[in-house]
Amino acid sequence: MKVLESFRLDGRRALVTGGSKGLGKVIANALAEAGADVGIVSRTESECRQTADAIAAQTGRRTMFATADLTNSVQVQSAIDLVQSELGPIDILVNNAGINTRGLAQELSEEDFDAVLGINLKAPFLCSRILGPQMCERGWGRVINLGSILGAVALPGRAPYCAAKAGVANLSRVLALEWAQKGVTVNTICPGPFGTDMNKPLLEDPEKYKAFVSKIPMGRWGELEEIAGVAVFLASNASSFVTGSTVYVDGGWTAQ
Ligand SMILES: NC(=O)c1ccc[n+]([C@@H]2O[C@H](COP(=O)([O-])OP(=O)(O)OC[C@H]3O[C@@H](n4cnc5c(N)ncnc54)[C@H](OP(=O)(O)O)[C@@H]3O)[C@@H](O)[C@H]2O)c1
Repeated sequence: MKVLESFRLDGRRALVTGGSKGLGKVIANALAEAGADVGIVSRTESECRQTADAIAAQTGRRTMFATADLTNSVQVQSAIDLVQSELGPIDILVNNAGINTRGLAQELSEEDFDAVLGINLKAPFLCSRILGPQMCERGWGRVINLGSILGAVALPGRAPYCAAKAGVANLSRVLALEWAQKGVTVNTICPGPFGTDMNKPLLEDPEKYKAFVSKIPMGRWGELEEIAGVAVFLASNASSFVTGSTVYVDGGWTAQ
């Protein structure tokens, strides 16, 4: 076997939720660079269009987008149908879309809790239960869920997010078991802190920023591109015997 060739994604079709910006955009671009055609889905049409066009221009792959609120099962189905009608059957699903609403438990509303659980945990379930069985029928597939270090360790002020991300890791394990004999793997990537829009409140507050750095053995936040290698690995044949796993990309935060 030629090991580097096993990382190639030529002929594959990927769907990246929340692929319009942040880590999802880097992942979508990396999958296209490795050879996959890529669809992205988020709620904001202008950002989706811009990113899909930029990835196509940069990689020469086919790209497309659909807009949807992925907490809504009807919109999930329509977005998947639209992407598949253009690109063909999806064989790599990256459940990346997410939000974080911070605040002490007594300060957060029921709506806050539902919104965070809805996109971080329910949406991966909704997307996976449509695309996973289709991948099983074709005998090959990859589902990659974005968890977080905060699914394994806790921080005050993050009740819904920590609960959702802990759920994501175990959702991955359940689906990994259900599809283990069908050629479909399901794994979780758990990032530490990266400088995306989600983390604006931390990036804009020097004290909070420094407090985070002090928790990271490598002494720095992640560069967005540092998520790409793990995503391509888990999306490719190079990870053919890896399923139900959780990979931390956190500069050592969870090693302590
Ligand atoms: N950045 C970090 O440090 C970090 C650390 C650990 C884990 N993560 C995880 O990594 C993933 C990506 O995070 P990020 O930092 O790249 O976030 P980001 O830059 O804020 O991007 C989030 C993406 O999700 C989409 N999205 C949010 N709600 C949606 C909804 N209801 N329906 C459809 N799309 C929706 C957003 O687009 P619209 O708003 O236009 O819909 C956007 O494309 C998330 O799951 C996050 O929890 C991030």
